[in-house]
Amino acid sequence: MRIPLIAGNWKMHKTVSEAVEFVSEFRKLYKDTDIRACICAPFVQLPALSEMLKDTDIKLGAQNLHFAEKGAFTGEISADMLREIGVDYCIIGHSERREYFAETDESVNLKLKRCFEAEITPILCVGENESERDAGKAFEKVGLQLSLDLSGIPSEDVSSMVIAYEPIWAIGTGKNATPEQAEEMCGFIRCVIEGLYDEFVADEIIIQYGGSVKPDNAEEILNMPNIDGALVGGASLEPANFMKIIDF
Ligand code: 13P
Repeated sequence: MRIPLIAGNWKMHKTVSEAVEFVSEFRKLYKDTDIRACICAPFVQLPALSEMLKDTDIKLGAQNLHFAEKGAFTGEISADMLREIGVDYCIIGHSERREYFAETDESVNLKLKRCFEAEITPILCVGENESERDAGKAFEKVGLQLSLDLSGIPSEDVSSMVIAYEPIWAIGTGKNATPEQAEEMCGFIRCVIEGLYDEFVADEIIIQYGGSVKPDNAEEILNMPNIDGALVGGASLEPANFMKIIDF
């Protein structure tokens, strides 16, 4: 049985005091459901949030890390630093990092390996842009990303990770993929995983959809058989909205 994961990706939003205010409010609204909830916050907010969430079922995530264990990498944050303060998940290879911070499939692959070594569950983001979709190349693009990003990663790690299908044209645009489009790609991702690994891994892996998920479209997307949760940007910034999605 896969436990769906709904993770909020706050991106570069909220100061520490705003994050603390969110969690105080969110804890009051939060009710235990069959869904796992996670907040992926900017680095500086993580210690305070870890303290506030430690006696709850709400998980904590980061949005990036460096692939090296440690070293002379000014301005970077390591997986061990995150693990020590109670980070459970880390978003890896978000399209904004691939586009604005020159992340490649090679660095994404190294970051995934570092996550597994530090016992942090990665949320690997894949997805096509608008011109790739229009050209009928969406499946080819996602298939290639998966084979490069997961290269050399063993099945026991892959079966415990999360993949988020985030079509770039649906991120922050208000134009979500239709439930059928999202289901079709998430089903395809499961088939690719079965081909790269086996049926067991494909059955265990959590596959999310992300891109303009909101309280009013969450249910139809999340009821799809191959969609095990969502990665939510804008609609995760306000406690009541985020809770409505978790409680779809
Ligand atoms: P929006 O929900 O704001 O479209 O963002 C999606 C996203 O990029 C989550 O990682």
